[in-house]
Amino acid sequence: MRAIVSDPHQPHRIAFADVAEPTPSRDEALVAARAVSLNRGNFRRLTWEGAGWRPGYDVAGIVLRAAADGSGPPEGARVAGLVPEGAWAERVAVPTRRLAVIPEGVSDAAAAALPAAGLTCIVALARGGPLLGTRVPVTAAAGGVGRIAIQLARLGGAHVTAQVGRPERAAGLGALGAAEVVLSVDAATGLFDLAIESIGGAVLAQTLAKMAPGGTAVSLGASSDEFTTFDVLALVRRGAITLYAISLFQEMERQGVGARALGDLLALVAAGKLDPQIGLQGSWREMGPMLAALGARQVAGKAVAVIDSGGEA
Ligand SMILES: NC(=O)c1ccc[n+]([C@@H]2O[C@H](COP(=O)([O-])OP(=O)(O)OC[C@H]3O[C@@H](n4cnc5c(N)ncnc54)[C@H](OP(=O)(O)O)[C@@H]3O)[C@@H](O)[C@H]2O)c1
Repeated sequence: MRAIVSDPHQPHRIAFADVAEPTPSRDEALVAARAVSLNRGNFRRLTWEGAGWRPGYDVAGIVLRAAADGSGPPEGARVAGLVPEGAWAERVAVPTRRLAVIPEGVSDAAAAALPAAGLTCIVALARGGPLLGTRVPVTAAAGGVGRIAIQLARLGGAHVTAQVGRPERAAGLGALGAAEVVLSVDAATGLFDLAIESIGGAVLAQTLAKMAPGGTAVSLGASSDEFTTFDVLALVRRGAITLYAISLFQEMERQGVGARALGDLLALVAAGKLDPQIGLQGSWREMGPMLAALGARQVAGKAVAVIDSGGEA
């Protein structure tokens, strides 16, 4: 079958290749991919991987063969799922604990946009307890995770502050549920109960400096690639402030989050309460330029690639 693999010698460090068919474990369904999404994590890892690595977390498609252990959706079901790597392929073996049926009315593209970004938001927001009435900043709010985090935090009743890197990146965030949009978390109103932070560097330090006593700053990573220096004593004086760094797959296992939460996210989309915010969509033959746009911070939300041919071009 055709798949996208890393290739450091190509302009966008990817190429199409013929690879072996997946051999599903007993708890995995074989899915014929129709759409996949791009994540910054995929983009970042491609910058250092050698030839032959298989990128891709998110896939939406049709179950070709149900899991041998009887778990999960049956053959023919339209599903979305999450794998640690290798989703950018014609067929993908997906563990049923991370696979959910796509409700009618939700497109393959919308479903493919959800698993990694949406489940990241679910496990991150869960660290704060009940959201009602809390103050939640979301940094990198114009990105794929950020736009979903705003909506889910707002649905939970939080007062959401969205941080963006440039004024034009603020477009549409108020409509998603952000009460205020700032260029720097320094400028946000009040202290934060739960922060969703992914830029690292000075932005993480600024976020920590505004945590309320007992608050939790959840770090998803450091898109800036910068280290953080922060005033520990200021946090000690304020008291009981947690910095909680997560890695999605590990955190999903830790919290027991998977298929059911993915089903909940898809149901919210079907009900019109959550929009995955697809900012860029194209054929998987355009994956290189799409990756470049994501890397250049030009995508307002998620980038999704449709598996519309065997990738021969
Ligand atoms: N820990 C985990 O398991 C996990 C899971 C999912 C995502 N993540 C991480 O969370 C972050 C956000 O993911 P995403 O999918 O939402 O990414 P994305 O769609 O590419 O959005 C990232 C945004 O970060 C902002 N940013 C600020 N400084 C940046 C810099 N120096 N370089 C690049 N971007 C910068 C940009 O928005 P502006 O231009 O508006 O500043 C950019 O659009 C990434 O670092 C990703 O790896 C981690």
